[in-house]
Amino acid sequence: MGELQAFNMKLKIGNLKLKNRLFLSPMVDVTDLPYRILCRKQEVAMAYTEMINIPAILHENKKTLNMMKTSFEDKPLGIQITGNKVEDFSKVLPFLDSKKYSLVDINCGCPSSRIVGNESGSYLLKNPKKIGDIIKVLKNSGIPVTAKIRLGFKENEVLKISKEIERAGADLITVHARTAVQRNREPADWSWISKVKKEIGIPVVGNGGVSKPEDVAKMLDIADGAMIASAAIGNPFIFREALRYLRTGKEKEVTGKERIKGFLDYISLAEKYDLVDIGRIHFLGGWFLRGFSGASSVRQELMKMKDIVEVRRFVNQL
Ligand SMILES: Cc1cc2nc3c(=O)[nH]c(=O)nc-3n(C[C@H](O)[C@H](O)[C@H](O)COP(=O)(O)O)c2cc1C
Repeated sequence: MGELQAFNMKLKIGNLKLKNRLFLSPMVDVTDLPYRILCRKQEVAMAYTEMINIPAILHENKKTLNMMKTSFEDKPLGIQITGNKVEDFSKVLPFLDSKKYSLVDINCGCPSSRIVGNESGSYLLKNPKKIGDIIKVLKNSGIPVTAKIRLGFKENEVLKISKEIERAGADLITVHARTAVQRNREPADWSWISKVKKEIGIPVVGNGGVSKPEDVAKMLDIADGAMIASAAIGNPFIFREALRYLRTGKEKEVTGKERIKGFLDYISLAEKYDLVDIGRIHFLGGWFLRGFSGASSVRQELMKMKDIVEVRRFVNQL
């Protein structure tokens, strides 16, 4: 990363000012309120809700309200929504409360058969004009509008798609540098992130395969921001270490003790916000509880536990 950029870590999205250029990806079953707060404690500048389907928002059931939950400790926050019909996006406008959400992001990347079957997520990439129409509708919310895309559905059409998104008035675009049919084990092709950056004027955030601090530095050489998903699961510390690396060229190893403490902090926050979900505790614990001797048997024990009191007691004595 060039020296100049190292001193210019702030970023603007419409009227929203970010303290640095690190983004936590929206992730289903991961980026709930407690998890976002944990990452913010490690200095990530921007975070999102997991993707939320428009019908779920309109029905306001408990599960969705939990996904939409935020707090004073959780700013700035993007709400990510999925849907297929332009009219449906206009129905969520009353829910886009600027006191809670700093921006709204359109999911144009999810490849799951359930979402694609519903003509949402990455299916939208087949029709860039429709994405543009959705952006125009969402602009009526008064908060910045962003889109998270892939390179295309089957074909790489990223330049055409990004230009349409910019033309429609979006404030930022995130590019996950794979097509929707590519598996995550195939390498993301960052050269397309550079090409998008050269073609459009709005900020471009790069995503896909940013798995260590050095990758963040490389991404920030070509894009305005670096977004991390998989590598941040059970490892909120990656943001702190990425910033350290950007400042000093060095990173510090995250200790097993820190990981255990991070998991306990997640549990406390989940309790504080009444968002305890034992399935999620198992899943996240499986990622947090690594990097110390005996970690694998600890994880096996954890998976057998059915209530949070038991989990807390067990993890506390590690
Ligand atoms: C568990 C998990 C859940 C995800 N959920 C979402 C989501 O809700 N919305 C979204 O736009 N992308 C979602 N993604 C995709 C990521 O945001 C990201 O684009 C992708 O994993 C590539 O980044 P990475 O290489 O850093 O993992 C998810 C990824 C994972 C691993």
